[in-house]
Amino acid sequence: MGDKNSRTSVVLEVQRYRPEVESRPVVQSYEVPFRKDWVVLGVLNYIKDNLDGSLSFRWSCRMGVCGSCGMMVNGTPALTCATFLEHYLPGPIRVEPLENFPVVRDLVIDMDDFMHKLKRVKPWIVREEEKPLSEGEYLQSPDQLYAYKQYSMCINCLLCYSACPIVGLEPGFLGPAAIALAQRYNLDNRDEGKKQRTEILQQDDGMYECTFVGECSVVCPKSVDPAGAIQRYKASTALDWWKSLLLPWGNR
Ligand code: SF4
Ligand code: FES
Repeated sequence: MGDKNSRTSVVLEVQRYRPEVESRPVVQSYEVPFRKDWVVLGVLNYIKDNLDGSLSFRWSCRMGVCGSCGMMVNGTPALTCATFLEHYLPGPIRVEPLENFPVVRDLVIDMDDFMHKLKRVKPWIVREEEKPLSEGEYLQSPDQLYAYKQYSMCINCLLCYSACPIVGLEPGFLGPAAIALAQRYNLDNRDEGKKQRTEILQQDDGMYECTFVGECSVVCPKSVDPAGAIQRYKASTALDWWKSLLLPWGNR
């Protein structure tokens, strides 16, 4: 197959799981053409179109926006539409479903548990009272937007859940993206829901489960830094607690 410049093919070892055929996952190898500008998702589509139409995987945008093409590539969680084949030469290149999730079929994982966790932290603007429409929009300055913008970049790709050893050990853990998104809304000047979210995040399966390994931030393709968001959340909660002791007449 030659060096990088003369190479014409590469082998992909893809995890298959077809519940009506296999009782447990198996590995299937495909020899595919090598092109310098091809990404792993492109090769999976090549396999589906030319070699094996039964291979199942998720994707949509092909540009790192929809968050649906996350898989393990040589053991590391990655967006396959942004992962170039040439970085894994000479191969073989192993492609598996994201770790720490049940597998529905081949490379497709079950996201239901994450969706329930996400809903628990109320990732939307919570208002104690809505002002009438006649009073206009809730305004926001560039600085107020900047306060939470980093956390709003999350695309729910779930790479961080795959990389997190605590999610692996304690499947109930709310996890990096859900906590980062809770923090995104807490830091939004239009939101008044921090108290409700904190009640959820202080439960046994909440933010204190995080031991700050930091792998979630390493694999995050959008530089959300969920590990940093969790530590900020912990620090702000401790500060709120001290304030409530020192200023008991304040807003508790
Ligand atoms: S925090 Fe990053 S890795 Fe986790 S779901 Fe959001 S974008 Fe993906
Ligand atoms: S296909 Fe949308 S992020 Fe990869």
